[in-house]
Amino acid sequence: PDSPLIDRFGRVHDSVRISVTDRCNIRCFYCMPEFDAQFVAKDRLLTFEEIHRLSKLLVSRAGIRDIRITGGEPLVRRELSSLIAMLSAIDGLEDLSMTTNGILLADQAADLRAAGLRRLNISLDTLDAETFRKIARRDGLDKTIEGIDAAIAAGFDSVKLNALAIAGITESEVGRLVRFAIDRGVTMRFIEFMPLDSDKAWTHERVLSGDRLLAILEKEFGSVTESPRANASQPAEDFTVGGGGRVGIIRSVTAPFCGACNRIRITADGSVRNCLFANDETPLRDRMRSGATDDELLAQVQASVMSKKAAHGIDEDGFQPPDRPMYAIGG
Ligand code: GTP
Ligand code: 5AD
Ligand code: SF4
Repeated sequence: PDSPLIDRFGRVHDSVRISVTDRCNIRCFYCMPEFDAQFVAKDRLLTFEEIHRLSKLLVSRAGIRDIRITGGEPLVRRELSSLIAMLSAIDGLEDLSMTTNGILLADQAADLRAAGLRRLNISLDTLDAETFRKIARRDGLDKTIEGIDAAIAAGFDSVKLNALAIAGITESEVGRLVRFAIDRGVTMRFIEFMPLDSDKAWTHERVLSGDRLLAILEKEFGSVTESPRANASQPAEDFTVGGGGRVGIIRSVTAPFCGACNRIRITADGSVRNCLFANDETPLRDRMRSGATDDELLAQVQASVMSKKAAHGIDEDGFQPPDRPMYAIGG
């Protein structure tokens, strides 16, 4: 690439997470407000053509190799599989994946696969309908499970399930979530709850730590064996548990992977964000709409990467959560 995205700490950025909408069909408390969420107006969202232009530029000239589509809930964006088809045709792109809550997947999984989507990560925090309603403040467990099964049937290169690890909720779910994943031959991952909730109710005590998860896994499954990380920028640590289960743990709070971070984000309204916990963004949309050249856009992305901080600093004095909650940043 003529402009690799290397920051002040030498981190090479070769992965982009693109949010296609900030809207969602549920209202998980760790992300969205229950009522009155503020959404970006439709004409301020990047169009598919704009997303395609940026993606192509990042892949062809800035060393980006992977694209992950996020939201909000990406599947509420109309005709998403046509965007997937546009992106999967980009020369040099090595991986195209999506993170979804799965509720709309039963209808869309086969089309997404056919359009060239390779990997899917699907949120599944609980297998209890009542707990689902408590977390998501909407119904949706049955649809989510249908969506997971449709994704598995569609033959993606990988399907992984993501559960937020929240103290007081997740302890009693770990065993059956892992068994659910074992039954389907997929990986179950647990993700430490981060201070990205719109309600600002996060506290350290609400994080179910990786250490506590490992203790629960040992009790439930007898053995827990760590496998080495496939690459240093992968957020999850991988384990195999008794019974053949594959489990990942993402210790974003107790053992952050910021030092090996390789990702940038594009928000649904078209700004580059160099970190979930960044306190600034670099807007691209209006520049694109007023005729910015590729070189000008690349320079903006470069500048954003150069201002990336070393780490999220959740445990440091004076830590402030980001100005936008998770749904508005992109998962
Ligand atoms: P693969 O490993 O490629 O499957 O994807 P992933 O794990 O990066 O993607 P996914 O969207 O499933 O991310 C899982 C969780 O990791 C997210 O929900 C976040 O909680 C967390 N995460 C993702 N990206 C970041 C990041 O840049 N920083 C931090 N601190 N956490 C992140
Ligand atoms: N902390 C960590 N992960 C979060 N997600 C949403 N909110 C948070 C949070 N506060 C993750 C969910 C979902 C993805 C879209 O973002 O696990 O998989
Ligand atoms: Fe929606 Fe995802 Fe936020 Fe849950 S975590 S409310 S599924 S955007």
